[in-house]
Amino acid sequence: MHRQVFRLPEMDEQPAPIVIVVLGPPGAGKGTQSSMLANLLRVPHISIGALLRSYARDYSEVGLRLRRMMALGQLVPDTLVLDVLATRISESDCARGLILDGFPRTLGQAELLERGLLKSLFYANNLKQKLVALHLRVQNNTIVERLSGRRVCSRCTATYHLGTQPPRLCGECDFDGSALTIREDDRKATVLKRLQIYELETAPILSHYAEKASLLEVDGEQPKENIAQEIVVAIQNMLRIPTAGAKDVQSTLKDNL
Ligand code: AP5
Repeated sequence: MHRQVFRLPEMDEQPAPIVIVVLGPPGAGKGTQSSMLANLLRVPHISIGALLRSYARDYSEVGLRLRRMMALGQLVPDTLVLDVLATRISESDCARGLILDGFPRTLGQAELLERGLLKSLFYANNLKQKLVALHLRVQNNTIVERLSGRRVCSRCTATYHLGTQPPRLCGECDFDGSALTIREDDRKATVLKRLQIYELETAPILSHYAEKASLLEVDGEQPKENIAQEIVVAIQNMLRIPTAGAKDVQSTLKDNL
């Protein structure tokens, strides 16, 4: 079999920061692929949904409001999302780049990202050349099937699927043995609502990135290892990632998926 070689930047190099925004409907595999890419590129995976869920666990009034909105599948107001994101982006581990999973979700958020949020010290230069929008295309019936089978660890948030990625022991996380739970917004009626919001608010962002020639379209229906392989090779070509210390994609994926 022909083995592709993906070259990773060395830890002591100072390559220009890479920003990858991962787009796609709920359940498209954004979290799954972002986590793999973050390991390969050695940049943080920032999941806005996960950050918001951690705030929603708080017993404050804001926490309660967040829980309600997210359980209904509604978008959280920009003021709160931007506050949470700006705080996270300002941390030093983002200096080499980041994978943004779940942001932007509206055209307004896309503009804020480029004009405001990333215009910090780290991203002042050549942002246009270093921003890739990755779109995972998945059909609605696949989404409903994926989300009805998703289970999440109540402690470490590791994600499973009863059919395609089951835990070793039924109902228990492989990593810490904690109980697996169903996300409240994964109930079918809420999934359909989230899909509607995606079509209305988020899908228009795709043409925004297509115009800038920074949109990478990927068939998200494939097995996740194939998707990962396709993405890393395409990103390597798009961004001309500096080379020093080559690593084999397949062996890296085995360690990370
Ligand atoms: P968020 O947590 O971001 O939810 P989402 O976008 O709806 O995406 P999901 O996490 O449901 O799915 P995913 O695409 O990451 O798929 P996964 O990899 O887990 O946001 C939640 C909420 O927060 C929003 O509804 C909103 O309220 C709020 N929010 C977030 N961002 C916001 C913003 N910017 N503005 C305002 N509000 C915001 O995979 C799903 C399942 O499929 C898993 O079980 C997995 O194992 C399986 N799977 C993955 N890939 C494959 C494959 N290739 N083949 C087979 N199975 C697969």
